[in-house]
Amino acid sequence: MSQAATPQVASTFTFKSSDDPILRAQPHRLATALIAHADQKPRERVLLYALVFALAPRRCLEIGVRWGGGSRIIHAALSDLSQGVLVSIDPSPALEFDWSLIADRATLVIGSSPADLPRCRAAVDAPFDFVFIDGDHGEKSCHADLQGVADITAPGASILLHDAYHPPVDRAITRALRELPFADVAMPATTRNDGLHVESGRTMTFGGVRWLRRT
Ligand SMILES: C[S@@+](CC[C@H](N)C(=O)[O-])C[C@H]1O[C@@H](n2cnc3c(N)ncnc32)[C@H](O)[C@@H]1O
Repeated sequence: MSQAATPQVASTFTFKSSDDPILRAQPHRLATALIAHADQKPRERVLLYALVFALAPRRCLEIGVRWGGGSRIIHAALSDLSQGVLVSIDPSPALEFDWSLIADRATLVIGSSPADLPRCRAAVDAPFDFVFIDGDHGEKSCHADLQGVADITAPGASILLHDAYHPPVDRAITRALRELPFADVAMPATTRNDGLHVESGRTMTFGGVRWLRRT
């Protein structure tokens, strides 16, 4: 005698999304990553926008501003999120736009890292949770930037270093990973740039973005 099969009850799974508006943020200003004059390759600019947009940090710091393109990209991503602030520091920026255009959520500190990093920290209400280091690319200077950044970031903060393939920057990172409260995350932009120092005829390497996490 055959047994009747047990009828299968279709299980339902309905997910009602959170109403948190940040989940509905749209990358309307992504084009800023393509048009802002930044000292970065296009892949690096898009990465900078995308990481800020995806991580949604509350307090960003940029060390090294020059023409201001990096600041504009970070500001664009924060504006698309409708949250977060940026502090940018440079002893002698050569801005190609009027800072008041981004002053709604960005502050420019005329000063040098690491000596003036406490002034950057004083401009925000809590430790930074996102830092883009793109200042003096010497080994000692870059290591000093990382030391200063360790004091003004919260555990879990993301630290990006531009030109991470530049040997002095690479050495500074290696030393910081040994001595300072940082862990390696990834090299999310493999934009290694083996170019030429025209005056000496020597090959020089720049490019790349390394991502560390404050432990
Ligand atoms: C490569 S450019 C920055 C480019 C910029 N981040 C961008 O995305 O276009 C380097 C800048 O670092 C600045 N700089 C040099 N030493 C510095 C220091 N100790 N602290 C802060 N900025 C510094 C220089 O004045 C220069 O404007």
